[in-house]
Amino acid sequence: MNPVEITVVADAEAAARLVADRLVEQARAGGSIVLTGGSTPRHAYEIAAGLEPDWSRADLWWGDERCVAPDDEQSNYAMAKAALLDGLDAAPAAVHRMQGELGRDDGAAEYERELGGVGDFDLVLLGLGPDGHIASLFPHFPSLDVTDCNVIGSEAGHEPFVDRISLTLPRIGATRELLFLVTGEDKADAVSLALAGEPSPATPGSLARAADGTTRAVLDRAAAAKL
Ligand code: 6PG
Repeated sequence: MNPVEITVVADAEAAARLVADRLVEQARAGGSIVLTGGSTPRHAYEIAAGLEPDWSRADLWWGDERCVAPDDEQSNYAMAKAALLDGLDAAPAAVHRMQGELGRDDGAAEYERELGGVGDFDLVLLGLGPDGHIASLFPHFPSLDVTDCNVIGSEAGHEPFVDRISLTLPRIGATRELLFLVTGEDKADAVSLALAGEPSPATPGSLARAADGTTRAVLDRAAAAKL
């Protein structure tokens, strides 16, 4: 596996700023950016929108989605819309949201079609669950073994317990840069297993690496405590 370039900063605020800077750099350069859900990236998205209100050169994709309506409070799209998209003056060239409202199978099939023919991403952002999950790929789930498609539908292996749509591991790894953003002491064990442990289906984060690109992680001190 490719090694991970790790940057440790003092706290969650500093981590959000660093990731916001990277998002802005990519938005200005153009290309494809894959956003992650969960709560950790929200502040990074807010800062990024404040730093650069013109995202018209970027295409946005999502790494995973919950099977709810796009305005549901559990929707990853809704979070990114509120934190990032609604703060922009110039919208991204394309916003490829996963249609969670179609359900996990039809939603996954639809996103598979949307991704058809798309090459490597430029930047994939990932969070990490306390159980080591990334996107909606959960420990020991059969979805970890899927290599013949880009998108899967899945049950949830972690809260919120609603069905999920997720990119597969090979599709997540098809990027020039894979960037983990992880903060907080409750993630310290998962960080150590995902970034410094042996690759294992017990920790999906340990299986997520840019196949031909760079894998980086921005951590706060609390999340890095067990490295
Ligand atoms: C999701 C995610 C998921 C998330 C982790 C971390 O839809 O839930 O994309 O993989 O990144 O669960 O979430 P937190 O940032 O909320 O801890």
